[in-house]
Amino acid sequence: MKILVTGGLGFIGSHTVVELQNEGFEVVVIDDCSNSSEEVLEGIKAITGKTPIFEKLDLKEKNDVEDFFQRHHDLAGVIHFAASKAVGESVERPLLYYENNIGTLVYILKELSKKNRSNFIFSSSCTVYGQADEMPITENAPVKTAESPYGNTKQMGEEIIADTCKVTEGLNAIALRYFNPMGAHPSAEIGELPLGVPQNLVPFITQTGIGIREQLSVYGDNYPTEDGTAVRDYIYVVDLAKAHVIALKRLLENKNEDNYEVFNVGTGKGSSVLDVVQSFERVSGKKLNYKIVDRRVGDIVTAYADTTKANEVLGWKSEYTLDEAMKSAWDWEQKVRSKS
Ligand SMILES: NC(=O)c1ccc[n+]([C@@H]2O[C@H](COP(=O)([O-])OP(=O)(O)OC[C@H]3O[C@@H](n4cnc5c(N)ncnc54)[C@H](O)[C@@H]3O)[C@@H](O)[C@H]2O)c1
Repeated sequence: MKILVTGGLGFIGSHTVVELQNEGFEVVVIDDCSNSSEEVLEGIKAITGKTPIFEKLDLKEKNDVEDFFQRHHDLAGVIHFAASKAVGESVERPLLYYENNIGTLVYILKELSKKNRSNFIFSSSCTVYGQADEMPITENAPVKTAESPYGNTKQMGEEIIADTCKVTEGLNAIALRYFNPMGAHPSAEIGELPLGVPQNLVPFITQTGIGIREQLSVYGDNYPTEDGTAVRDYIYVVDLAKAHVIALKRLLENKNEDNYEVFNVGTGKGSSVLDVVQSFERVSGKKLNYKIVDRRVGDIVTAYADTTKANEVLGWKSEYTLDEAMKSAWDWEQKVRSKS
């Protein structure tokens, strides 16, 4: 069965391509390489023995999207990762985010709506919950006003899909709300490759550990958490990739209860910034240079998932520990730097 993976050369997309190919799917990747490179194809081949079909295409180009779907009329499913994801940049350049994250989604849904039956998985985020009132966060927790245009694109994206599913019987969709993806493939052939200063904690830590960054700033140690630092739910990227394959199979096998469903994808466990730092120190045997600085305005204090729905309805569960995921991130960092 042929599956389109948009953004398939990116961090989460590339790991999902690997899991799909391991399960025997034929994968077509669309990516414009705005935040990735074609070299990722070599990593995927090294792991799976197979290079996916690749089309370098910008999904903002509506005509190219239409043309692609005409040429690939036999797609069994689409997993849509392609998006811009830097929260700070989205505040500076909102229209870029609305065009790239909403425009591309609309073009793809339009094509899928032309089919009698189509299956669609969307990359959403726990950012839709903002600072949730109760922990752990279930899928029924209210969606809060978005703090950034990026967060807004995930909320609007979900609404656009839900509205379209209501009036398009053959369209089946699942939105996966990721908590905090981290780590790299255990082979260290693919991983996270942030451009410039990493936005996420784990690549910032590994880059500091290897000496590219001087120091990690820990924003606030007086929050109402166990050690005073902010708490998140770190999900290993390979576990997350597998959740996509399971969600896709649910649709392909007609097991979905509704034609639009939402699942949290996390571990269900909260880890503080200092827990993550200590995990790095354990797996690398290095002391991390960090300092506590003032809180950042707008930062969420605590967010971790209730994964009951994903566990029981989807039949997916995270398997890897924080230390295992951290080790993969550290192995990857060392490999990337040894090449450069
Ligand atoms: N990484 C996270 O922390 C996180 C958390 C929650 C949700 N998400 C969402 O998951 C998805 C994947 O995230 P990621 O971390 O793998 O990001 P990423 O930047 O590594 O991957 C996205 C890929 O999409 C490509 N792309 C972007 N715009 C495109 C366009 N117009 N046409 C074709 N390709 C395009 C990029 O080149 C990149 O390879 C995104 O939708 C993101 O918002 C990520």
